[in-house]
Amino acid sequence: MRSVVLTALLAVPTLAQFSGSFVLPVEDEALGYNQPAHDPVARLQTKLDSGDIKLNYDSAQGYLLSVLKQLNIPVESQVLVFSKTSFQQSLIAPWAPRALYFNDDVYLGFVQNGEVLEVASVDPVKGAIFYTMDQRKSDKPKFVRHDECLQCHASPRTLGIPGHMVRSVYPDAEGFPQLQAGSFTTTHASPMKERWGGWFVTGTHGSQRHMGNVWIKDKNNPEKLDVESGANRMSLKGLVDLSPYASQHSDIVALMVLEHQYHVHNLITRVAYETRLALSQQEGINKALGRPLDEWSDSTKRRIFGGSELLVKNLLFTDEALLEAPVKGSSEFTRRFADRGPRDSKGRSVRDFDLTRRLFKYPLSFIVYTEAFDSLPLQVKEYVYRRLHEVLTAQTLEKDYTSLANVDRPAIVEILRDTKPDFDTFVRAREAKLSLGKASSGVPGTGRN
Ligand code: HEC
Repeated sequence: MRSVVLTALLAVPTLAQFSGSFVLPVEDEALGYNQPAHDPVARLQTKLDSGDIKLNYDSAQGYLLSVLKQLNIPVESQVLVFSKTSFQQSLIAPWAPRALYFNDDVYLGFVQNGEVLEVASVDPVKGAIFYTMDQRKSDKPKFVRHDECLQCHASPRTLGIPGHMVRSVYPDAEGFPQLQAGSFTTTHASPMKERWGGWFVTGTHGSQRHMGNVWIKDKNNPEKLDVESGANRMSLKGLVDLSPYASQHSDIVALMVLEHQYHVHNLITRVAYETRLALSQQEGINKALGRPLDEWSDSTKRRIFGGSELLVKNLLFTDEALLEAPVKGSSEFTRRFADRGPRDSKGRSVRDFDLTRRLFKYPLSFIVYTEAFDSLPLQVKEYVYRRLHEVLTAQTLEKDYTSLANVDRPAIVEILRDTKPDFDTFVRAREAKLSLGKASSGVPGTGRN
């Protein structure tokens, strides 16, 4: 039984409140965004500076392939966006889409004839750090940090923190988004029919339709996309010449993984920022009023645990838009992504795909294996672990978690305990505490948690 206070907290904030809320003061000292970063690109730059690593240049793609290799980003993660919605937009068009590549903590953008590679790299504490690398051949290729990218990348669309985004728009034949027709910020919660406007999509998806692979014919009726002609394409031959690209695909499964993970990254950063700000403000108030430093007001608790609860829901895909027909990728992405594991003693992994009803077989985000997740403030991480364990082992599913009704919840707990030692330690301690509580009170489930 949860305490009354906690139950009251769980009601807030809803995702709508969260995504519509203000942009956090990134320059606040408690957040330290402007300080040196410790993301994978910063680490690679240190090795480039010391000469431990050299990048190879090729005349067609500049430093792209070499950077992908050094950052361990698979070429199969390539997805293609042709709407003019981002930086370097004058070079982006249906005949020259922008390619994005990603792994669990770095996103990279490449535009044909672009002057720079664009990178958004996840710092475990600060969130997304933005860089460009000049695409001209140089003795000392360098990632240059650009906080000005935040003019788009720290907005309500990124949950108000330095983060990532995926948009779906109604594009015209040159890639200009017809914003009067509306647009969508898409995540794993978006129905397929709202996804991928302005993107190329390869792979099959049965009777479902999406907005990809097509542009509007009639500017007066931009929402009348010919979604039939864009559906179920295993190849983009005849639609766009992909010979200058590293891959011939814009794999539907890669797109779905991207839409899940960027949103979870944003949530992690939002919750971490909110917590650090709330704690620093609370400390200031406590000092001024001569209160004990660890005393928290209700509003501080709400700010910290409301966001944490939202993170738990997203880690468990509670609002995932279920598939109405099976989905199949066109490239090796599906296999290579799942191969990365880790696997439990029975060979299972949360990276195993389902692709018939939902994205993953065991709906728990693989982002729990990232440094960003592990670097969450202690209070948040403990809350998330406790709630994951509570929800996944509950006899009766809580109202907000009924999406897990047909999911093998014990398997998720087993996989997580097997592959994430600190979760296993947490569960052991919690179980010991719960059984102690039981022994002393005689009433099941009243152990403090
Ligand atoms: C005009 C707004 C805008 C600016 C400025 C901008 N971006 Fe983006 N960026 C977007 C949008 C929108 C997307 C989503 C995909 C798309 O539509 O291309 C995106 C996606 C990305 C992605 C892939 C996914 C993600 O969100 O991480 C990277 C990497 C990226 N941008 C890097 C940069 C870098 C580096 C800069 C600064 C040099 C920058 N962007 C400046 C709008 C912008």
